[in-house]
This record gives sequence, structure tokens and C-alpha cells, in this order.
Amino acid sequence: MSSASTKRRAKEDHYGYLHGYSDVEQERLIHQARFFESSVFAGIDWPASAKRILEPGSGVGAQTEILLRRFPDIHVTSVDRQPKQLARAKRYLAPQIKQGRVKLVEARGEQMPFGESSFDGAFICWVLEHVPQPVDLLKDVLRVLRPGAVLHCTEVLNSSFFLHPYAPATLQYWFAFNDHQWNMGGDPFCGAKLSNHLTAAGFQNIETRVRNLLLDKRMPKAREEHLKAFYELLLSGAGELKKAKRVDDKLLTELEAEWTAAMKDPDAVLFYSFVQARAVAL
Ligand SMILES: C[S@@+](CC[C@H](N)C(=O)[O-])C[C@H]1O[C@@H](n2cnc3c(N)ncnc32)[C@H](O)[C@@H]1O
Repeated sequence: MSSASTKRRAKEDHYGYLHGYSDVEQERLIHQARFFESSVFAGIDWPASAKRILEPGSGVGAQTEILLRRFPDIHVTSVDRQPKQLARAKRYLAPQIKQGRVKLVEARGEQMPFGESSFDGAFICWVLEHVPQPVDLLKDVLRVLRPGAVLHCTEVLNSSFFLHPYAPATLQYWFAFNDHQWNMGGDPFCGAKLSNHLTAAGFQNIETRVRNLLLDKRMPKAREEHLKAFYELLLSGAGELKKAKRVDDKLLTELEAEWTAAMKDPDAVLFYSFVQARAVAL
């Protein structure tokens, strides 16, 4: 094992989380899930017989709410390792919890307290990028899925990000953001490796789709909304990056100026790709 992977493995149980758990961040997750709902959920489906769905890394329940709304016959077991996220999820999903449609469980996705064949399907979104050993988590998902169950997985590919007009402070900030996440044990380029990870975990019939977001002058309203959502995403790392002395107030001021300029520029372009995989437990 290389020293780099030894370092990443050593952090496995106590790794940090770039976005943090502030109220602002928890609301951002809810907004983000709703904002990207149509692109994330475009290809997500399970057969009618799939009633018991597992959602590791469920956070504040932002995707859980969408799952329950889109699939009225399912029950979701939402698992997160962070009690603060589950506390917010308990409030956010209060009506669905009362209806008996969701169960919140505090656990690491790598070691879930469920037996074999406990679930008919699984959904993972924006989680593996934060996990030092994503294959371990996927192996545990495979363990608790019944044979034939389908897993849907969505992940970032942060190297795909592009902004016009040219934005050097943003590029510097984005490098710090991704480099810091990498050094915390995460992987901001995880999307490109999804199929490799799923294969290593033992999943079969893996299909991947690259989802491209290209916002330009043809759709000014959608472009403005996406620029806002991405700026919020960038800022979600600012507290942690400042604490780690990876960015300073000067860079943050320049960053703000570049995004303000982009939002006013009729020729602005925003591009980003993420990756989705469908895999079967056999
Ligand atoms: C970016 S949030 C995404 C939450 C949710 N999937 C969504 O899209 O809104 C990532 C979540 O994964 C959780 N997480 C990270 N590593 C985990 C692990 N090993 N097991 C369980 N949850 C984990 C974090 O606590 C956080 O709530």
C-alpha cells in the first residue's frame, strides 16, 4: 500500500466533512436537492415490487423527501453517520415519519446494522465523494440488498467545472476546495470512477450516464439560477477552507467579484458534468 493510501485509510473513521453542518449548509442541501431534482431523478426507477429502499448518506433528508414523493409506495431507510444531519432530517421529514414511510438510522454506511436481503433497492447521491474507502461502503450496500435489487448512484466530477468569463480567483479557489477535500480523504473526481468502484464492490450489470449541464445565453434565467446554486456550493466550503488557511478574505472578495460579473455578463457560460450509475446486486 502506498503512503498516500495508508494516510487516507488511517483517516477512515475520523475523516472531516468539507461542507460542515451549519444551519445554512443544511438548508443549502434541501435547496440543492430540489434544484437538481429533474436532472438527478430523470433516470431513477425501480420495479413496482421494490418497496424497501435504502439511502446511505441521507444527510438532512433532502433526497428522501423527493424519493417518497416520486415513489408513493416505497419505504425509505435513511442512514447517516452524523447526528446533526439526522436531527434536521427528523424535523424536515416529520410528516413522512408520522406516516411510517421513513426510518432514520445513525450508522456508517460501511457497517450498517441490517441483515442480508433487507432491501429491494438503494439510492446514493453526493456521498461517495466524502468517503475515504467508497468500495467498503458499496460492499456493505451489496450485503444488505436482496439479489436482483437495483442501486442508483450519483456522483460529482469536479474537474469538469467551467466558467466564462475567465475567472482566475474561482479557479484558484476551486483547486483549494478540491485539493482540501482530497486531503481530507474524499474524492471530488469520484464520478469518473463510479463503475470501477461498483465493479470492485461486486455489483453487476453496471450502466453509467454522464449528465452535462451547459448553461449559456440561450437560457438566461436557468443560467442565473445555476450560477447562484454553484456559487452557494463553492461557498459551502469557505468556512473549512479558511480554517485550514487554504483561502483568505482577499481571495473570497475576488471570488465574489467574479461571480457577480458572471451573473451580469450576457455571454456567461457555466458547464458541469456529474455521473450516474445503475447497478444490480446479484
Ligand atoms: C453532501 S451530503 C449529501 C446528503 C444527501 N445525499 C443529499 O444529496 O442531500 C453527504 C452526507 O453523507 C454523510 N456521510 C459521509 N460519509 C458517510 C458514511 N461513511 N456513512 C454514512 N453517511 C456518511 C454526511 O454526514 C452527509 O450528511
